[in-house]
Amino acid sequence: MLNYKNNDPHIEGTSLHDLVKVCETPFYVYSQEKIINQVNKTKEILGKNIFYSIKSNSNQAILKLMNSLDLGADVVSVGELKRALDAGFNPNKIIFEGVGKSEQDLLYAMHKNIRLINTESLEEIKLLDSLATEKNRVVDIGVRLNPDIDGETLNKISTGKKTDKFGIEIDKIDKIVELVKSCKSLNLVGISCHIGSQISKIEAFKNTFNQMKMAANKFIESGINIKHVDLGGGFHVKYKDSDPDFNIGMVKEELDNCFTKTNYELSFEPGRYLIAEAGITVTSIITIKNNGGINYLIVDAGMNTLIRPAMYGAHHEISAINVNSEEFMNYAIAGPICESSDIFLKNIKLAKQKIGNLLVIKNTGAYGKVMSSNYNSRPLPSEILVHNDNYAIIYSPEKIEKTIEADIIPSWL
Ligand code: LLP
Repeated sequence: MLNYKNNDPHIEGTSLHDLVKVCETPFYVYSQEKIINQVNKTKEILGKNIFYSIKSNSNQAILKLMNSLDLGADVVSVGELKRALDAGFNPNKIIFEGVGKSEQDLLYAMHKNIRLINTESLEEIKLLDSLATEKNRVVDIGVRLNPDIDGETLNKISTGKKTDKFGIEIDKIDKIVELVKSCKSLNLVGISCHIGSQISKIEAFKNTFNQMKMAANKFIESGINIKHVDLGGGFHVKYKDSDPDFNIGMVKEELDNCFTKTNYELSFEPGRYLIAEAGITVTSIITIKNNGGINYLIVDAGMNTLIRPAMYGAHHEISAINVNSEEFMNYAIAGPICESSDIFLKNIKLAKQKIGNLLVIKNTGAYGKVMSSNYNSRPLPSEILVHNDNYAIIYSPEKIEKTIEADIIPSWL
């Protein structure tokens, strides 16, 4: 994402060094142009029914941008629903997923007249029917199916296998039909699925499409008028320089092969694919040490800033800004958190570094800031959006004093 103008690293037309002057590291930077290009490319290939999965990056400025690009929103909590509404998404372009929606959540979504509530269990369907009946409403719903397909992704981000907690097993369609027919206040109009995140195998998408077409046809044969078929997200992002390119055109080919001669309205709900590559995390080297022969660069970003490496063993490339040294060294890059898993990369060759230098962690636009925490009582990272030679700080964390104030001391202490 960085381009160099006279040896000066830039994001679009903005110098990284200018950002460091106005914002303390660690922080996230997003390129507006990159987001727009990726969204437009995805819409051109997959069609207009794209619901941005806002869990991947739900900053209000990003949501406003995504809304201006005519995307819908896929939300998984009332908090996310409020964010989407606040950013201006039309309620009829919002779908509400989630494996555990409470009565309050369902009532709120119903009250806001969103496009679809995608139910994930037979119990949830029953609860929603009773709430809609109480409110004298008829509500359009979808059902998330679990197609029992292994997306062959990291174990912790797989969602489409029979034993995963998500959706209703695809071989329980008869049960769903029977239940929905007995519901007075629900219209089942859609089915959805999502087999996992960071999926590179086109075969997995092909199998999913076939399963979903069979399922939709089965509902129709049983007298349920399915209109929408939502095929989830999960498109692969190239985190390692050595990863093969992911060709979304091939997903489109499989889609066309599978759904020819059908009239379903097909949609997708990607998150990562739209924004991961448009973001970087900028961090400074706090100290340098050698332990047991390993050269550690201890940086000010930690697992509290970007948890993906510690949590999933996920890989993010890191590059140095100071590359002037003739001497190269092997480094381990670790955060300041008191946990052994607070390591970003174990063995990376960089030009010799010194304290105070900047490093850039790449492709962190998705599931970066949204998963950050105050662990070790560190502040959350700031976020900056760059637009040509303009930039804006779009998230500024509360001071740690404010975080401390939120704790309440009981009267007996
Ligand atoms: N739809 C549903 C129902 C989902 O659960 C998800 C992601 C998506 C869409 C969007 O998936 P995407 O296109 O972004 O792959 N924190 C993990 C990823 C968890 C994804 C959870 N669900 C990570 O950092 O890799």
